[in-house]
Amino acid sequence: MTEEDLTRIARGYRSFTAGARYSSPLYAELAEHVAGSATVLRFLAALPTGKRQPNLLFAALQFLGGAPVDGAELDRRVADDAERLRATMLARATQTNEPARCGALLPVLAQLDAPLTLVEVGASAGLCLYPDRYGYDYDGVRVGPADTVRIAVTTSGGVPVPRRLPTVVARIGVDLNPLDPADPDDRAWLRALVWPGPAADERLHRLDAAADVAADEPATLLHGDLVDRLPDALGFAAPGSTVVVMHTAVLPYVPEEVRGRFADAVRDLPVRWLAQEPPGMVPGTGERPDDAWGAHFVVSLDRRPLARSAPHGGRLEWLGGGLETSPA
Ligand SMILES: C[S@@+](CC[C@H](N)C(=O)[O-])C[C@H]1O[C@@H](n2cnc3c(N)ncnc32)[C@H](O)[C@@H]1O
Repeated sequence: MTEEDLTRIARGYRSFTAGARYSSPLYAELAEHVAGSATVLRFLAALPTGKRQPNLLFAALQFLGGAPVDGAELDRRVADDAERLRATMLARATQTNEPARCGALLPVLAQLDAPLTLVEVGASAGLCLYPDRYGYDYDGVRVGPADTVRIAVTTSGGVPVPRRLPTVVARIGVDLNPLDPADPDDRAWLRALVWPGPAADERLHRLDAAADVAADEPATLLHGDLVDRLPDALGFAAPGSTVVVMHTAVLPYVPEEVRGRFADAVRDLPVRWLAQEPPGMVPGTGERPDDAWGAHFVVSLDRRPLARSAPHGGRLEWLGGGLETSPA
């Protein structure tokens, strides 16, 4: 471990602080503390490079004993519980599963020819594979059942709010590490990935309710890379259905070369390609933000940008285009 390693890690934590300030003041404070803490920086520098990020450290701490209340507790727990913390960070990955993203996908899905087969790559626990099982509130217009997961969306630009939910006849997910919504440890990890902050209670409530829905009606979840396993996933499509290959908040994790091969593969298939990703991750959806994530995501169908959304899906701005209801 070199001084340069410690400086690089500290810089990463400092830049995380700016993005977390409003959504999680506690994580912003803890990240700032880490940037100046020799104890934590040395602990992190001993981990492989892909395992040092704030999201993973803070989720592992939450998983093992709740979020530290301040920097002093953080230092103490890293010093006293280093082995368990290291093992958790090595075994787990950042796989936040946010069912509220279905609120950004639904206006598109509802316009496609039903019934639908959903093939979600980078599915985590598959909670975005149930857009037809959740209830929505688009600026007060309610869609779907009232007694389940509730997803509120603020709209602008004339979002085509669906009148009814689409019919989904098959749900298939692919992930490097699929999580099981029925497994208590995986559920605890998904909860630990939610940042403490103003939206945490609502998000945890929604996560628990969506995991119950998914556990009751398990999707087919395949283990592996999105390019390698796509053909296997398509093999589970229901005959006569419209197949939708979809993904949300996945492509920034995928190396550029693999992303290119994925785009080439999907383009040539007889499927609809629905994405909710940062700009530029799908070809034709804008300029890439400097930090790979940016302040908003683009909802695109078959590479055509249709809307801008909040990264977690709670806000949707329609860009004015109609939908080709059959593939171009
Ligand atoms: C931030 S999570 C998003 C989960 C879900 N799409 C959502 O929006 O709630 C990203 C997921 O992509 C998966 N992932 C990353 N690279 C992948 C790859 N090359 N192939 C398959 N899955 C991948 C991760 O394991 C993780 O579960």
